[in-house]
Amino acid sequence: MNKALRKAVIAGNWKMNKTPAEAKELLEGILPLVKDAGCDVIACVPFVDLQTALEVTRGTNVKIGAENCHWEKSGAYTGEISAEMLTAMGVEYVIIGHSERRTYFGETDVTVQKRVRAALDAGLTVILCVGEYLEQREQGITDELVAMQTKIALGGVSKEELSRVIIAYEPVWAIGTGRTATAQQANEVCAVIRATLAGLYGKDAADATTVQYGGSMNAGNAAELLAQPDVDGGLIGGASLKPADFAKIVSAATEG
Ligand code: PGA
Repeated sequence: MNKALRKAVIAGNWKMNKTPAEAKELLEGILPLVKDAGCDVIACVPFVDLQTALEVTRGTNVKIGAENCHWEKSGAYTGEISAEMLTAMGVEYVIIGHSERRTYFGETDVTVQKRVRAALDAGLTVILCVGEYLEQREQGITDELVAMQTKIALGGVSKEELSRVIIAYEPVWAIGTGRTATAQQANEVCAVIRATLAGLYGKDAADATTVQYGGSMNAGNAAELLAQPDVDGGLIGGASLKPADFAKIVSAATEG
């Protein structure tokens, strides 16, 4: 049990919500409520909101992330954004492999690996999402599946680079459904991810890596989830759009 060795990280995933003007308003609501946070606080926002979000949070304890990036530096990839474009703006984090990208936009473990590589090369910190569908949980293959997703995504990532990787365990059946994993389920799979990291990089590196839970985490259930020994933070969708709820989760992480 080495929770003290790693940072608790609460990251909002705004998904496809908020115009720049709305982003400013939301962040201005969040900032005063989380200014004394004892954990890292990140807002991952739509590409068009990044500039505004960076300006509004300058000099504060809230860091800004994107929700995806492409694996090439530039080129004929209509509609895509490169990791270099993000770092050039001052963005520090990027979500990679979210289940919505895997499900709706053809993201595979292989493209996730390429995006992780590009993001790390550009100097970003990656929030790598893994997680099972309900049928996979019912089939009893969650642990193998999540271990495999983690291994493929981290193919070629060095131990030194792992310090710029956060892993988010997000059971697909819990995302946006109001159906949260139990604290025990969340902890079990976060522990499987940590054991997978230990196999790849050794125990010290695994103990130093932040593993978040995501999937209907909210102001009411965050404390119990974040108190689990292997749950080091949360990736928050719906509740990250509500300042008071998001702030409650941040306080729960500080205590957890
Ligand atoms: P949710 O989303 O909190 O709305 O379930 C979590 C996520 O998709 O990262």
